[in-house]
Amino acid sequence: MKPSKPRTGHRFRGVTMPTNAHPLIRQVKRQGISPSIHGNKLWKSSLLLIDYLNKHRPAHCKTVIDVGCGWGISGIWCAKTLGSQVTSVDADPDVFPFLEATATLNGVATTPLVSTFEKLTTRQLSQFDMLIAADICFWDELVDPVFNMVNRAIKAGVKHIVIADPERPTFHDMASRCATRHCAETIEWQTHSPVKASGALMVLENA
Ligand SMILES: C[S@@+](CC[C@H](N)C(=O)[O-])C[C@H]1O[C@@H](n2cnc3c(N)ncnc32)[C@H](O)[C@@H]1O
Repeated sequence: MKPSKPRTGHRFRGVTMPTNAHPLIRQVKRQGISPSIHGNKLWKSSLLLIDYLNKHRPAHCKTVIDVGCGWGISGIWCAKTLGSQVTSVDADPDVFPFLEATATLNGVATTPLVSTFEKLTTRQLSQFDMLIAADICFWDELVDPVFNMVNRAIKAGVKHIVIADPERPTFHDMASRCATRHCAETIEWQTHSPVKASGALMVLENA
């Protein structure tokens, strides 16, 4: 019997999510490009974020910033489904060739920006209606930078902030600080089909 071919991608809520076996992704890898801060695949928290936004369409989403974007599928979904102008931000420049391949596959483009959470200023954040992120609070050292970025986004007038996570303790630490300071909500979320994922979303409406 022939060995079965590895899956090259999944369709999810209107976008194509490539795996490491997709020809466009393999082409990038052949150039020796290798992300170094866990931006080496599409993480399942982005499914939670997309599914949530698909069910709760944001009122303000002309301009969206996807922070810690990795391969960028959440922002790509916003560009494709909501018609948003998306800026995709990551500290690691090596994620962007993978993001570009994923965006091409989905027939959209986003604007890349190399920056850490810490370096995004209030003035930069003030250009956006919505800030989204998936699985960006995975180390103790990231709790303060992510919390401070949320504080600046609120000050900047960003209307919606949604951060998805597989429920790491560091995420809950950050989310409970946002609940105390800004009345952020934390919502349990799951997807069943076509891909299973579970975790939580921190949702902040900056009225
Ligand atoms: C676990 S991956 C998640 C990627 C993507 N959001 C997803 O769901 O597929 C975390 C991403 O955050 C980026 N990152 C880590 N620390 C960062 C920082 N201080 N500032 C900006 N990006 C950071 C990494 O390079 C990586 O792409």
